[in-house]
Amino acid sequence: MKLTTLTFAAAMVAGTAMAEGVVAPQDVVMSEYGEVATSLTGKPGDPERGFEVYSKRSLGNCVACHEISTLDVAWPGNVGPMLDGAADRWSEAELRGIVVNSKKTFEGTVMPAYYRVDGFIRPGNAYTGKAADDSFGPLLTAEQVEDVIAFLSTLKE
Ligand code: HEC
Repeated sequence: MKLTTLTFAAAMVAGTAMAEGVVAPQDVVMSEYGEVATSLTGKPGDPERGFEVYSKRSLGNCVACHEISTLDVAWPGNVGPMLDGAADRWSEAELRGIVVNSKKTFEGTVMPAYYRVDGFIRPGNAYTGKAADDSFGPLLTAEQVEDVIAFLSTLKE
């Protein structure tokens, strides 16, 4: 029992271990049009936690660029479109694709790709002159992506 706990803790520290059933960023299957059809965790997200991801600066910080008229958020941003009725305009698979990697749906957008770890230009390691290692993770976890999708799915007019 003790050993199991330790092994689990070590896996958490390594940061690369994926919970069972979770799709790693490099394994996400995206359609030609930028849709991601299947849940990254294999289960539905939680819209309340998704609101946290949406509104917290340390998480998705979507409010920095987006506004939702029914939400009372101080100083929402307006770089991105209002998200009122987003679930009427986009299917769940499209919304997931936009959050995972918005660049596929909106070429050249300033919106961050929240579940992606490759395809970026990254500063090299100044000492060795080699590319920096890619050991840091995506901006959001798979679970946080699913939670924010569940939240976006409530935005119907
Ligand atoms: C740096 C600004 C920025 C941040 C942060 C940002 N977005 Fe966006 N988002 C945009 C822009 C700009 C667009 C419009 C696409 C384009 O033309 O570039 C957009 C488009 C969208 C769309 C499609 C909107 C529609 O109604 O058609 C959705 C949905 C969306 N974003 C969700 C999110 C979510 C969820 C987050 C947080 C996890 C987020 N965005 C964070 C800038 C941002």
